[in-house]
Amino acid sequence: MSDAINSRIHGFYKLPVGARLDALTEHAALDPEARRWFERGGALGVSAADKMSENVISVHGLPLSVALNFRINQRDLVVPMAVEEPSVVAAASNAARMVRESGGFFGEADAPIMTGQVQFDDVADPDRAAERVMAERERVLRAGDASIPRMVERGGGCRDLDVRVLDRAAGVMVVHLYVDVGDAMGANTVDTVVEAVADELHALVGGTLGLRILSNLTLRRRVRVRCDVSAEAVGGAAVADGIWRASRFAELDVHRAVTHNKGFMNGLDAAAVALGQDWRSLEAAAHAFVSLEGKYRPLSTWARTATGLTGRAELPLAVGTVGGSTTAHAGVRAAFQVLRVAGAQELAVVLAAAGLASNLAALRALAGEGIQKGHMKLHARKSEGEASVAAPAMNGHANGHAVRP
Ligand code: MEV
Repeated sequence: MSDAINSRIHGFYKLPVGARLDALTEHAALDPEARRWFERGGALGVSAADKMSENVISVHGLPLSVALNFRINQRDLVVPMAVEEPSVVAAASNAARMVRESGGFFGEADAPIMTGQVQFDDVADPDRAAERVMAERERVLRAGDASIPRMVERGGGCRDLDVRVLDRAAGVMVVHLYVDVGDAMGANTVDTVVEAVADELHALVGGTLGLRILSNLTLRRRVRVRCDVSAEAVGGAAVADGIWRASRFAELDVHRAVTHNKGFMNGLDAAAVALGQDWRSLEAAAHAFVSLEGKYRPLSTWARTATGLTGRAELPLAVGTVGGSTTAHAGVRAAFQVLRVAGAQELAVVLAAAGLASNLAALRALAGEGIQKGHMKLHARKSEGEASVAAPAMNGHANGHAVRP
């Protein structure tokens, strides 16, 4: 990928929409095809929509924006976001600006390993059945590979399996298959594999064959991001302390943790929607992940340092840069042209960074003058019919978003 992108575009929010496209062309190498798509208003068109879903009667629109100022793993990126909630984009941009002063976001994603499940009930001796499966591990994995030859050609394929006994007395067990899906989200690939190996597994396990489907809890496909931000950038030591106390509040209280995580997912989901990802699977996985230890936790935490704060987040994130609507939807292809990531692992890091930025912006607002001031201003603008220009005019902190993204 080219390194020529500059995501810090001064005064972007003040420009008319056409001039924003000029600025993106200049600073972020927006290509002419993507630009034409944006200029046409990005409407998918009923005939393309009709190929994507069923009983289509029209096309549903959302604002498509770009979040600026992101620097991730020492590279500038312009992050497309599609979201109906005012100020999410301004908030993320504003937090990304503060974070870039301390070097930006850093992150890494696991190899793209998806999990598939094959369920069995009424198994006579689950432990013996598990041993039989493990003894035939290689043969099962190769049978799985045979069902996805093109994925194997591209370097993916079945990597591992394990067996979990869920209820010994009732003979309920599940075989997990772990499949490297490359740059795809991978749901179809995994579903193909588990359906292909189910009969072979059934012959080994006995009992009654049940479901054959991916698990959206993609524990072997996680992403981790972190960033530093100075106390000065967030508005002083008292605000930094407040952000840290807000983080501790979320760690101690499920009621707060849910709202904290909603703020995190504001940015992550907005980018996921713009980039054609299955945001329902991302939501399901994220909330399950933070509940695994029996207590719902925040997705991100903020620790106070000598000079400011360090934020960290980890979550399972199954996203793709090929297949699905990344291929079928011209607007999603245009959004990827803006983002310019090398593949699914880099995309995962970007989405998690967008989440951490949104979270920081929200906590900063809450720890400072409060969220409601900004919301009130914003709502006033909305009722004046000016919602589309809400972000530039804000000088409060709706959603944590500050004045000058
Ligand atoms: C609103 O969309 C999100 C917030 O409620 C998040 C938070 O409270 O941390 C502001």
